[in-house]
Amino acid sequence: MVVRVYRYPEDVSFACALLIAAQVTQKPDSVLGLATGSSPIGTYQQLVKWHQEGKLDFSQAISFNLDEYAGLPESNPNSYHSFMREQLFQSINMKASYLPNGNAKDMAEEGKRYDAQIKEKGGIDLQLLGIGRNGHIGFNEPAEDFAYGTSLVDLTPSTIDANKRFFEKEEDVPRKAISMGIGTIMEAKKIVLIAMGQDKAEAVLGAVQGKVSPGMPASILQMHPNAVILCDEAAAGLL
Ligand code: GLP
Repeated sequence: MVVRVYRYPEDVSFACALLIAAQVTQKPDSVLGLATGSSPIGTYQQLVKWHQEGKLDFSQAISFNLDEYAGLPESNPNSYHSFMREQLFQSINMKASYLPNGNAKDMAEEGKRYDAQIKEKGGIDLQLLGIGRNGHIGFNEPAEDFAYGTSLVDLTPSTIDANKRFFEKEEDVPRKAISMGIGTIMEAKKIVLIAMGQDKAEAVLGAVQGKVSPGMPASILQMHPNAVILCDEAAAGLL
């Protein structure tokens, strides 16, 4: 695992966008793994800018997102489908983009279908990750075991609390989500995790220097052969 520390959050976004741009430039038909949350917004803005300037073409690339809330219509402004459309897909020319279906009747089947679809497209070349305050990646919350494949998960009170800022009322925050599993994430050829701000410092410490344990899901990245963590000084404050 490589850790790179940048002074400001904008530097993290820029460095992350550069890695994604390099990936797509070197392999135009890349399979990208994408993330939601506030952390990747600056990265997506930079990618959109380069695309609009004619410097970056996604026409052969495809993407798979990490997760989606369960039971929220795709048209809901807080769904990850809406987030990705607004932040990225409507402004670039990605060949195809996939998210798990949070409204599938059978979530176990949907998880299997999603993992099979990723494999069929050749696997993820570069997976972008944010990190939850409790060390979750995707929606893999701290647990007793690592979940292998994409599945339905219960969100923890800490995640519901962190995500309520996007919803009108706390009761509106979905309690469940469908998320790529740790196994799905670890199969990506390259992983880039970004973390900004002091409230991520403990999670970054656990991810980088903690014991590898399902209680700190991001710690599994220590076992990945090609993982890089980009963080600002605030998020790296406890390292
Ligand atoms: C959600 C997402 C994660 C994301 C996390 C952190 O829980 N499912 O993929 O990493 O939020 O979000 P933020 O970047 O807003 O702190």
